[in-house]
Amino acid sequence: MPSLRLGNIAPDFEAETTAGPIKFHEWIGNSWAILFSHPGDFTPVCTTELGEVARRADDFAKRNVKLIGISANGLKDHNKWVEDINDFGAKYGPTNVEFPIIADEDRKISTLYDMLDEQDATNRDAKGLPFTIRTVFVVDPKKVIRLTIAYPASTGRNFDEILRVVDSLQLGDKHRITTPVNWNKGEDVIVHPSVANDEAKVLFPEVTFHKQPYLRTTPLKVSE
Ligand code: BEZ
Repeated sequence: MPSLRLGNIAPDFEAETTAGPIKFHEWIGNSWAILFSHPGDFTPVCTTELGEVARRADDFAKRNVKLIGISANGLKDHNKWVEDINDFGAKYGPTNVEFPIIADEDRKISTLYDMLDEQDATNRDAKGLPFTIRTVFVVDPKKVIRLTIAYPASTGRNFDEILRVVDSLQLGDKHRITTPVNWNKGEDVIVHPSVANDEAKVLFPEVTFHKQPYLRTTPLKVSE
């Protein structure tokens, strides 16, 4: 199947997870979801990532985002690994992996989501099988894929960046705005190109019209 693109409906699937069996779309419900894959259980970079995601649970919850990990191991390994993650992660603050991790031993879901990198020879396990690389899918409540990122096995993800994109997407869904380079929540945003100047003055009374006629910026007051 062709690779998944922004705007595609995230394929639905049934899976066994550390939190019991799930149907993906049903599990997402009216939330946003982040599906993120791992090269394997008991691996160092992944252990740091899962600990960090567990520590940041409140940051995801306040944005109405559910998280779900996946790696190509069975539930027995996942459950043992979660003990390690909580133990290691506790050094950096309270860690409790409460989000589900999908047991994808037969790589069915990893294949469905094109998470196996066949091209990169460094992304292979001891048996020569491609790892489920570090992919991230942000899915909105309509089950539409809104962000995909793929990192190599050797580089841990930056979850601040993933939260930053979620903030941008959620604000862009509510207001007619886009967000500039290196933007962070609370900073000025860009008026969407589809908004005419007269309308921009009404919608955004503090709008600034820059020398470039296509660039209009504005503060945006939003409640948390
Ligand atoms: C890791 O998570 O540390 C890792 C996994 C596979 C290859 C390289 C690193």
